[in-house]
Amino acid sequence: MPKVTFVNENRTVEVERGASLRYAALENDVPLYCMWFGLSKLANCHGNGLCWTDRVKVTPAASVSPRTVLEKAMVQFGQIRKDPTVRLACQIQVLDDCQVTTRCQPRP
Ligand code: FES
Repeated sequence: MPKVTFVNENRTVEVERGASLRYAALENDVPLYCMWFGLSKLANCHGNGLCWTDRVKVTPAASVSPRTVLEKAMVQFGQIRKDPTVRLACQIQVLDDCQVTTRCQPRP
């Protein structure tokens, strides 16, 4: 089973191959939604790839599924950098061991 290390939280969890990174984070109390002073925790698209609030950095990029059509559109609109490690957590399936950095500060 792949291991996901959440860098800010200094926490490593095991997930099934193909598991959603969004659920891996949320089920392990790793905050993903901290934009707009935390309002994105309530005002997000619940994993549909439309709100763009759950951006994460994943390394190595090849350890997760390729960018989805929605993520490719984000690159076109300039919402995320062309950097292949910048992704939407809800669009990612974990394939191998990886390190994930969220935009949120870890909870004390
Ligand atoms: S939850 Fe809205 S883009 Fe991921």
